[in-house]
Amino acid sequence: MDGALRRVHPGSSRWRARLTPYEGYVYAYPHKTAYRPLDPRPALSEVWAGERAGALYVHIPFCEMRCGFCNLFTRTGAPEGLTGAYLDALERQARAVRAALDGPRFTTAAFGGGTPTYLDARELTRLFDLTEQTMGVGLREIPLSVETSPATATPDRLAVLAERGASRISIGVQSFVDAEARAAVRPQKRAEVEAALDAIRASGIATLNIDLIYGIDGQTPDSWRHSLEAALTWRPEELYLYPLYVRPLTGLGRQDRAWDDQRMELYRLGRDHLLDAGYDQVSMRMFRLPGPPGPPGPPGTTESADYCCQTDGMVGLGCGARSYTSALHHSFEYAVGARHVRTIIDDYVRRDDFGVANVGFALDEEERRRRHLIQSLLRTEGLSRDLYRSRFGTDVLDDYPLLERFPGWLTADASTVRPTPDGLAHSDAIGPALFSPRVRALMEGYAAC
Ligand SMILES: C[S@@+](CC[C@H](N)C(=O)[O-])C[C@H]1O[C@@H](n2cnc3c(N)ncnc32)[C@H](O)[C@@H]1O
Ligand code: SF4
Repeated sequence: MDGALRRVHPGSSRWRARLTPYEGYVYAYPHKTAYRPLDPRPALSEVWAGERAGALYVHIPFCEMRCGFCNLFTRTGAPEGLTGAYLDALERQARAVRAALDGPRFTTAAFGGGTPTYLDARELTRLFDLTEQTMGVGLREIPLSVETSPATATPDRLAVLAERGASRISIGVQSFVDAEARAAVRPQKRAEVEAALDAIRASGIATLNIDLIYGIDGQTPDSWRHSLEAALTWRPEELYLYPLYVRPLTGLGRQDRAWDDQRMELYRLGRDHLLDAGYDQVSMRMFRLPGPPGPPGPPGTTESADYCCQTDGMVGLGCGARSYTSALHHSFEYAVGARHVRTIIDDYVRRDDFGVANVGFALDEEERRRRHLIQSLLRTEGLSRDLYRSRFGTDVLDDYPLLERFPGWLTADASTVRPTPDGLAHSDAIGPALFSPRVRALMEGYAAC
């Protein structure tokens, strides 16, 4: 069943010898680099027939700066008028998508980026209005998560978010040490970060998430502890600790074993620090204060609390957003390089043919199993064997000999397969090893631009 794993058998000495714990962050399966142009482009009304749209994601592809590490789909230096034209296009897309949906019942929503708060307060109001009116969703009635950045988390914008029902706000801080922010090509000042965090707390939005990065050049255990302590001053309900990745077409470039060791040391330190501070570990990256389950992280991701509703569809609006049905994941074209991102955004704002799916990946039963496996296994609570059996009619350990393939990293009892602490630390090695041969080949064949 598992050809990719057989090629270089996880657990084998060959696999271990070339193993990096930082093979890749499996944020969602499959990655967009496995998507291809759809020919013919199917009508959305066919794609969504009989599917339940439960999550809504709106993508705002603008940032005030391009951070050295980031390969998200976003552009800087938007010329006058582009954000307004983008909102016009979003509205056209939302109307076309809503018309194609079969009675959506949204239970969760997120505005992500890029940096949604790159939009000013008036544009944010428009974003809420158009989303609610066209999609027929009350954003005050469901959990709504919004991403922001230190420079754009201003009181006037936060007032709009709070008043219109945002229940979670996620801010990228990366480091409280200015020299580390500079080393990551993330020019920001600590005073600006602190003002943003104070403003978020003053806004009354219930859940604050702070993103921090470890493995930055010059970062030490002491300076990492310093950033963790600084973040805890605001007692955020959630923290994401990201190992630094450098990828093609981003501003940084580095790959070596010493760096792997540095990241692993800082991971363990960060994990232990947050556990001692009373946080629960949800996944390798995500930590959360105990309490009633808060609003979920970004929908459709490994960390989101909606993972048990994997059968729900996700509707993505905006030119970098993905949409998921059970049979097709689809989006617009994907790029990282500034020139291509600009072209894709410019094409998007001129578009009128929003009633079709453009680029995508068709999931058969085997890919649905793998998606469920990958999105459930790498959480502390692990994968429910009953849930898997009720969905696919088989036992996950019959389908995938996981315990032999990842010795010491996974453990199972009658009800659950879950990662050990060492397995959680190696989530970014386990996840990519579970990709299907087809997804692996498509990703390898993707030409970055
Ligand atoms: C959409 S951004 C967060 C919001 C906002 N744009 C900001 O930067 O403040 C998502 C997060 O992913 C993390 N991230 C992005 N690229 C990364 C990389 N190459 N390595 C590690 N973390 C990364 C950063 O922590 C970042 O805050
Ligand atoms: S980290 Fe955030 S602000 Fe920086 S380029 Fe990426 S999305 Fe934009």
